[in-house]
Amino acid sequence: MRHTPSTFMASVFSSLRQSLKGLLVLIPVLIGLAVISPAQAAQWDAETLTVPADPSGTEVTFTDREIDAGRKVFNTSCGTCHAGGITKTNHNVGLDPETLALATPARDNVEALVDYMKDPTSYDGEYSIADLHPSMRDAELYPAMRDLDDEDLRLMAGYILVSPKVQGTAWGGGKIYF
Ligand code: HEC
Repeated sequence: MRHTPSTFMASVFSSLRQSLKGLLVLIPVLIGLAVISPAQAAQWDAETLTVPADPSGTEVTFTDREIDAGRKVFNTSCGTCHAGGITKTNHNVGLDPETLALATPARDNVEALVDYMKDPTSYDGEYSIADLHPSMRDAELYPAMRDLDDEDLRLMAGYILVSPKVQGTAWGGGKIYF
């Protein structure tokens, strides 16, 4: 087919219209992806995000963002010794739910974990280990504790309790009893 200038222009416009149409379809898809992807990086259901708030059985539901924030503070403040929920220098006292539940007092809830970060005690609850374990009480001992506030402690507790629900036994797992 021979293009006269006018039919040529017409075909240019029509293909332009076609690509514009394509773009119009693409744009919402791209926007959709941009909105969805960051959320998908950390998306857990409410059941996963719900953990015991205190020993009485009251529950608290965290948000994805809170758990993400808790993970960051935890990795910075506690990661050297507790990365992945283990305790490097004492494999018997990890941060897995079973071990937390059997501590005295039981540490498998937000309130008791926050209490531990403020005033840690031996596993049997007999004596304070604030002079050994990082805590708010003796922030001089472990400077990473200095910058933390109550909200940071609450978010870390949330992260410690949600992690095994997301990671299974990989959290605090591979434990060696000795
Ligand atoms: C310098 C290493 C070190 C750092 C840093 C550290 N911990 Fe610990 N953590 C330990 C040790 C060792 C134990 C076991 C203490 C014992 O003998 O009872 C422990 C025990 C615990 C327990 C009790 C676990 C249980 O099953 O009863 C909790 C809870 C805990 N740590 C939370 C934290 C949190 C939260 C942070 C960060 C704010 C943190 N720890 C930072 C070394 C550390």
